[in-house]
Amino acid sequence: MPSIAVSARRGAPEETDADTRVVALFEGEEPSDPAVRALVDAGEAKPAHRKVAVGHEDSGEDRRRVLVAGLGKREELDHEKARVAAASVASRARDLGTRSLSWAAPEGDGVPEALVEGTLLALYSFRRFKSSSPSEDGDDAESTLTSLEIASSQDVGEAVERARVSAEAQNAARDLQNLPSNVATPAFLAERATEVAAQSDSLTVEILGRGEIESMGMEAFAAVARGSDAEPKLIVLRYEGGGSGPLLGFVGKAVTFDTGGISIKPSAKMQEMKFDMSGGAAVIESLGAIARLGLPARIVAVVPATENMPSGHAMKPGDIVTAKNGKTIEINNTDAEGRLVLADALAYCVEQGAERVIDLATLTGAIIIALGSTYAGLFSNDDAWYGEVEAACLATGELGWRLPLHPEYLELTKGQYADLTNASDQRKASSIYAAEFLRQFVDDKPWVHVDIAGTAWGLGRTYVGSGASGYGVRMLVELARRAGG
Ligand code: BES
Ligand code: MN
Ligand code: ZN
Repeated sequence: MPSIAVSARRGAPEETDADTRVVALFEGEEPSDPAVRALVDAGEAKPAHRKVAVGHEDSGEDRRRVLVAGLGKREELDHEKARVAAASVASRARDLGTRSLSWAAPEGDGVPEALVEGTLLALYSFRRFKSSSPSEDGDDAESTLTSLEIASSQDVGEAVERARVSAEAQNAARDLQNLPSNVATPAFLAERATEVAAQSDSLTVEILGRGEIESMGMEAFAAVARGSDAEPKLIVLRYEGGGSGPLLGFVGKAVTFDTGGISIKPSAKMQEMKFDMSGGAAVIESLGAIARLGLPARIVAVVPATENMPSGHAMKPGDIVTAKNGKTIEINNTDAEGRLVLADALAYCVEQGAERVIDLATLTGAIIIALGSTYAGLFSNDDAWYGEVEAACLATGELGWRLPLHPEYLELTKGQYADLTNASDQRKASSIYAAEFLRQFVDDKPWVHVDIAGTAWGLGRTYVGSGASGYGVRMLVELARRAGG
C-alpha cells in the first residue's frame, strides 16, 4: 500500500492536476458541471447516497476522469454520510487504478475531514504475509492512489491535516491488531510505543517488566501474566502538550492473546483472540497522533500487555490476589482476565495523577450480543465526563451507547472469600458486571469504560470493512482536543 499524500486546495475544483476528480450529486439539484450533467442525462449518475458513476470530461488533453458521488439530500448531509460516500468513491477509484484523486468538498461541518478519513480508512489493506497479489487471490485490487486533494471554497488545510494524522494513526492501530500474536507480543507493543514516543519531544515512554509489575504490587496483572512465557509489559506513555485542562488518563487492554487460561476457551474462532489487544493499540496510536498534532493536553496512558495462557504456573480458579489498590480478588474464571489487568492499570493511572480516566477494552462477549458492531458499550460514574466522551464519539462516527451502573450490579462483584470475585456464576448483565468491577479501581475519579469487544473488528461498517477497525483512535484524539486544553 503506497502512502497517500493528502492536501487541501482553495479554488475551482475543475482546476485540479489530479487524474480523477470527484463531484457530489444531491437529490433534486441540477448539476452545472457539464461532465456531471452528461452522466445524469445518460441515467448513469444517481443522487442516492453511496452511488458512484464514472465518466470523463469531454475536452482537454487527457480527458480527466470524473466520479459522481451520490450524497442524498443536501440538507441531510453530515460528516458520517460524507465518510461513507468517500469510502464508496475510494473503492471505485481503486478498481479504476486511480493515482490522484481530487474531491470537490461540499459545504458542511466536518465534511472535509470526513472525506479524508473515509478515503484513507477504506483503502487500508493488510497483506504483509501474502506472497501472492490481490488479483491472484480474487481479492479487491491493491490501491494505487498516491495523492488525495480536498478542493474547497474555504480554508480547510488544518482540518484536512488533522484528519490525515488521525486516520493514519487508526490504520497503524489496525496493523497492530492484524499482526498475529507470535509477532505482536507484549514486547513488540512496548517497542512500538517506544518508537511512537521517539517521534515527539512531548512524549515519553516507560516500560515496566514482570519484576517491576510484581514488586509494585500489581498482583492481579501479574497473575494473568504468570501463565505465559512471554514477558508482560506495563507500557506507560506520557504526553506533555500544555494547556490548562485536567490530566487525562487513557488505559487500553492489551491481552496479545487470550486463550482463556485454565478456564480455556472453545477452539472455534479462538484465533480472533489475537485482537484482544485492540484497546491498547488504539491508546498507543492515539497518543502518537495527539503528539503529531501538538494538541494542548496532558495525558498519562497506561497499557497493560500480556498473554493469557494455561500452563503449570498459570493462575487457577479460586486463587486470590491483592490488586495495587489493596483490594483482594478471588479469580473464579481465568478467562475474565481483562478486568484483572485493567484493575491494576487503572489504579496505577489514578496513582499517576489522572483526573479524568477512560479505558478501552475488548472486555465482554455479551456486549457483542447487546450492541453488535455499530456501538461500543459505554459505562460511567460521572455524567459530565461521560458527556465529553459521547461528544467525541458523535463527532467521529466511532459510536458508543451508555449502559447503566447500579448498586445492585455492584453487589454481584462481591467475593465469597475475598473483597471481589472476577466472575460470578450468575451470567446476568456480564458487561455491566465487568464495568462495576473496574469502577472499584478508579478511586471515584471521573471515568468512562468503553467495551469495544463488538467494535474492534469484524464490523462490516462501510469505511472500515470487515477486519480490524482501529476503533477508538479518532475518538481519543477528538477527546484530547475537546477535554485536554
Ligand atoms: N476477551 C474476552 C472478551 C471477548 C470475547 C472479546 C469475544 C471479543 C470476542 C474476555 O477476556 C472474556 O473472555 N470475557 C468473558 C468473561 C466471562 C468469563 C465472565 C466473556 O465475556 O465471556
Ligand atoms: Mn478472556
Ligand atoms: Zn480477554
